[in-house]
Amino acid sequence: MEKITIAIDGFSSTGKSTIAKQLALKLAYVYVDSGAMYRAVTLFAMEKGYVSENNFLKDELINSLDFIHLKFIFNEELGFSEIYLNNKNVEKEIRTLEVSSFVSTIAEVSEVRRKLVEQQQKMGFAKGVVMDGRDIGTVVFPNAELKLFITASAEKRAQRRYDELIERGDKVSFYDILQNVQHRDHIDSTREDSPLVKADDAIEIDNSNLSLEEQFEMVYLLALDKISSI
Ligand code: CDP
Repeated sequence: MEKITIAIDGFSSTGKSTIAKQLALKLAYVYVDSGAMYRAVTLFAMEKGYVSENNFLKDELINSLDFIHLKFIFNEELGFSEIYLNNKNVEKEIRTLEVSSFVSTIAEVSEVRRKLVEQQQKMGFAKGVVMDGRDIGTVVFPNAELKLFITASAEKRAQRRYDELIERGDKVSFYDILQNVQHRDHIDSTREDSPLVKADDAIEIDNSNLSLEEQFEMVYLLALDKISSI
């Protein structure tokens, strides 16, 4: 069967990665979490002291981009790929609220975007890929056969992220998370380079009131429809 490219974009914590992972597993496609790449670069910048509460050494980060090596390695047990920053598995570390609080600032830097977009395009070259992020249908794969744009209310999204972090054992407040979600939405949608916008040919799905099963059923049918029409 022909393989297609599936681009999933949308606001923070809309559950894009859950949809993308499920789809990739079912279709035996490769799943790429582009947000994890921006998060790993953010972790690198934090570790080097390039970004903190009131400081951002943008030029230092740009000058060290060649020292940032990212790769995904498939974890058989989990059924998806985990991200490695300079050969270290950072899958858990990149999901903290602290990384979330700096990531949109890092993702605004054009040099960072250029480097990551190039890697993403290479990963999707052979098709058979599901990638989620903010600019996948607009910049990374403008020719993707299936583009989804996922939305949900800010409160719903913050609640989902809150539950996720509490489940992991992180101590966080719902209010801080809601603020982070809204703040990132604002930066991501208003930045100059590759802002978060719905591609003209993307299908918008508001999943505020959809269960995981209902949502999966919907996107899986859309994917099968697309694949069989090619
Ligand atoms: O927290 P959530 O899962 O919603 O976000 P993510 O997909 O992990 O992405 C984290 C951040 O990376 C976003 O808020 C964006 O600032 C940035 N990002 C981006 O600019 N472009 C992408 N393709 C993916 C993520």
